[in-house]
Amino acid sequence: MKRISLILLCAVSAVTLFAQVDYNVIPLPLSIALSPKGEEFSLTSGAVVSFPADNPEMQRNAQMLCDYLGESTGLSLTAEASSRDKAAVRLLTGMKSDNPEAYTLTVDKNGVTIQGASESGVFRGIQTLRKAIGVAEGDTVKLPYVTVSDEPRFSYRGVHIDCSRHFFPVDFLKTYIDILALHGCNNLHWHLTDDQGWRFEVKSMPLLTEEGSIRKETVIGSEVGGIFDGQEYGRNLYYTQEQCREIVQYAAERYINVIPEIDLPGHMIAALHVYPQLGCTGGPYEVWTQWGVAQDILCAGNPETLVFLKKVLDELTDVFPSKLIHIGGDEAPRTRWRQCPKCQAKMRELGLDSEAQLQTYINQELEAFLAEKGRSVIGWDEVLEGGLSENATVMSWHGADGAVAAASQHHNVIMTPTSYCYFDYYQLSNRDAQPRAIGGYVPVSKVYSLEPVPAELSEEQRQYVLGAQCNLWTEHIIAPQQMEFMLLPRLSAMCEVQWTQAERKDYEAFKSRLPRMMELYGKLGWKYCRWFE
Ligand code: ACM
Ligand code: ZN
Repeated sequence: MKRISLILLCAVSAVTLFAQVDYNVIPLPLSIALSPKGEEFSLTSGAVVSFPADNPEMQRNAQMLCDYLGESTGLSLTAEASSRDKAAVRLLTGMKSDNPEAYTLTVDKNGVTIQGASESGVFRGIQTLRKAIGVAEGDTVKLPYVTVSDEPRFSYRGVHIDCSRHFFPVDFLKTYIDILALHGCNNLHWHLTDDQGWRFEVKSMPLLTEEGSIRKETVIGSEVGGIFDGQEYGRNLYYTQEQCREIVQYAAERYINVIPEIDLPGHMIAALHVYPQLGCTGGPYEVWTQWGVAQDILCAGNPETLVFLKKVLDELTDVFPSKLIHIGGDEAPRTRWRQCPKCQAKMRELGLDSEAQLQTYINQELEAFLAEKGRSVIGWDEVLEGGLSENATVMSWHGADGAVAAASQHHNVIMTPTSYCYFDYYQLSNRDAQPRAIGGYVPVSKVYSLEPVPAELSEEQRQYVLGAQCNLWTEHIIAPQQMEFMLLPRLSAMCEVQWTQAERKDYEAFKSRLPRMMELYGKLGWKYCRWFE
């Protein structure tokens, strides 16, 4: 009897131990048509994933699919060029669609076919298959016959990371990009400089990272003038240009664009520490040891300021191919400009009425400089205050007002309102149940409820809303695992906002889909918050 049950047990474990495959993944695809007859295709270890010969991108996609399924299920698949007849999974391009990220995923008696409108569409389809299968063990997976047709609602689906307040190593940034890829995101907004540390290597000005990366100590908690930890932070914590290129490539292989940000003219104390002559008062300035908004910003009346910024942007654009280059623009108090003879003289020279217009003047100069390189500027919504430069994209973080103003002026907009998109805020109502955060409360349900297109916009204006983004500022986020915890599972909610048509969104249904996604997070070794509200 004992022997029989042992044999039975072995037989069962050798065949299938898979959870039910279900295409109701996160983000929810546009349409999922299951075969009413309930037939299934068995995907078995040893099966081939085919890709078109002479297409290295598709080869990479095929290899990634093999690696992904190997990791989450133990299935052993092989990528092979053009062996379509014997393949169990076929990856193809050539789908007819205006949206390059569109794809179809079909399962029938011939196996699995993922066809994209482009290679990036195929990659998005691979993520869907991977999430449909989920976590399992065994050597066979049974896939119900289906036709999934899918494409993202928004062309811009971003996640931000602040690497100034705290530095995150290159290996972790790759994990971060892996997380974005699973969620179908296609832009990483990389905040590289701020008052508390300069982290982008500028070869013509090495002091920026040699000295501008270091703060003498860090405030404990948030209080200005509070208690400090007495520990230096940031020495040698910066990204070399070579490392930045490595990140750009790693992201590009996952169809994610990296938008670098040099925050200006405010949030510049780290640079002012090194080049005090670029400040209105001449300094001296110490790399900031506390959080908040500093009064000292770059002097707009000093011609050296633009020379400095163009040198930075020259090297930045050499490293980052992104069409959009983020020039910050947020939280730049104009107090010093009001008192500075150079800034006031500049305003008179240009015939400007307000200091806000002086900020626009800087933005216009940089926009023209970047346009020559085929790039465009993007800035936080404060760039609206003195009048937008010609082609600027606006990142709307103060609610939706910035978006409405920008779209009515025919400027592109990305929605990232604090009360839905700031993942540095608490995610649980019980503050004691989570690590210290900056404040606020942005639970999963709140993230999910974001409608990125403000109702005030006309049909014509709506097209300017390119998408949405969540932001992770790191004043209180000091370690990779804490970062993952802040991001997950809120990114599940955000990616459905970014990807899924508004009519198909349903929070109750989303909640029922979330545990499978969380299981995958766990399998991939990512820390996540197990509770959600
Ligand atoms: C911001 O949160 N200062 C854009
Ligand atoms: Zn000045």
